[in-house]
Amino acid sequence: MFIGAIGCEPLQLARVSLENSTSLDVYRRNGGYEALRKALTMSPDDVIAEVKKSALRGRGGAGFPTGMKWGFVPKDSPKPKYVVCNADESEPGSFKDRYLMERDPHMLIEGMLIAAHALGSKTCYIYTRGEYRYLIEIMDRAIAEAREAGLVGGKILGTDFACEVHTHTGAGAYICGEETALLNSLEGLRGHPRMKPPFPAVAGLYSCPTVVNNVETLTAVPDIIKMGGEAYQKLGTEKSGGTKLWSVSGHVNRPGVYELPMGYDDMEKFIMEDCQGMTNSRKLKAVIPGGSSVYIMPASDILGKDVRMDYEGLVAAGSMVGSGGFIVMDETVDIFESTKNLTDFYKHESCGWCTPCREGTDWLVKVFKRIAKGEGQPEDAQLLLDLCDNIEGKSFCPLGDAAAWPIQSAIKKFPEDFKRHLAPMLETRESIAAD
Ligand SMILES: Cc1cc2nc3c(=O)[nH]c(=O)nc-3n(C[C@H](O)[C@H](O)[C@H](O)COP(=O)(O)O)c2cc1C
Ligand code: SF4
Repeated sequence: MFIGAIGCEPLQLARVSLENSTSLDVYRRNGGYEALRKALTMSPDDVIAEVKKSALRGRGGAGFPTGMKWGFVPKDSPKPKYVVCNADESEPGSFKDRYLMERDPHMLIEGMLIAAHALGSKTCYIYTRGEYRYLIEIMDRAIAEAREAGLVGGKILGTDFACEVHTHTGAGAYICGEETALLNSLEGLRGHPRMKPPFPAVAGLYSCPTVVNNVETLTAVPDIIKMGGEAYQKLGTEKSGGTKLWSVSGHVNRPGVYELPMGYDDMEKFIMEDCQGMTNSRKLKAVIPGGSSVYIMPASDILGKDVRMDYEGLVAAGSMVGSGGFIVMDETVDIFESTKNLTDFYKHESCGWCTPCREGTDWLVKVFKRIAKGEGQPEDAQLLLDLCDNIEGKSFCPLGDAAAWPIQSAIKKFPEDFKRHLAPMLETRESIAAD
């Protein structure tokens, strides 16, 4: 598996391949914690201003501007403030956060400490999915090492800045990646989403101002402080600054975690050259570029189309960056089957809190199953779309939309894969009619 940068100097992946990359010693020998030292000489407002200039957008899926989010935290609130790292990473196709924590845990700690300084927080939490329990050991070891070196706890780097970092594991529920469900779970409550507003920046953990950021977002912060927001932004595009990690899986010869400059041109070159082309020289059929919750792209929307890999470029091409879980599918993939598989996932992970998603995903699975058994009705593709209409935009949280979008785009872009499954039923009906 490949882990490295293409088209830019590695930033977030700069140290992942070094021997003992998880140790404080290696991290410090390679510039680690110098950004924190610099940040502590800056005012919190100046740190936020640099993050705003960097055009860093949240890497957890929604792409919300990070500096703006930090700016929403009320400065005059008498309540404690929290920094929470979203390390739930349960989106099918996404596995970049795992490598960041597994191979460079101090980069995350440093990013969180800088965020804590900027926001006036004394407590940070790292919330991982249940299956990432082994990462908690790596993170806890790194936190203990940092504490020993005066980088976590009181009087950090000899200043008055004090901050604790704690780890916490969920129990393996996709919904606990949604930031308010995560906060409920962190508080020991059932992991279902909260009503927004109020947003976490105002009333988050224990109803206190809280910033929730993805692992990749927070690990970008040390480089932003080191090089300055403007220089970081220039690595990418005007609206999508810096570099982005893509977790590449599926039918390519070289899957892996790729760091690309934002706005990398173009997706075809990325697949055919950087990822070393399709396995067994088969043809590209489709790509899901941003994790399972984004629209599927047929090869015809990619090949010869110069698709730019950033937030605006992917929207223009009919999909989204999402979490950067880049799933490549060759001509042997049946898109009906792959979409059925994803729908099973969303049904299983629906938290059951609201009716459109709880009932809707269940009905979607029932219809998929009957089509798969060869008992589909001619109007079943339309029935799936109608069900999606009743889920999308009508559910309590975006998981409902995420369940509907793959189906809507799969039926639109690959109608023949659905028709093929309905055809046996049509033929039987026609032969009965002919008799
Ligand atoms: C169902 C669902 C699952 C999510 N899972 C994750 C996740 O695993 N990791 C993550 O960082 N964000 C996830 N998000 C997005 C978070 O709600 C939130 O937008 C993100 O943590 C904000 O961080 P960012 O601004 O750094 O992207 C999920 C959202 C939804 C609706
Ligand atoms: S949309 Fe689904 S996951 Fe979200 S609250 Fe409703 S039932 Fe739960």
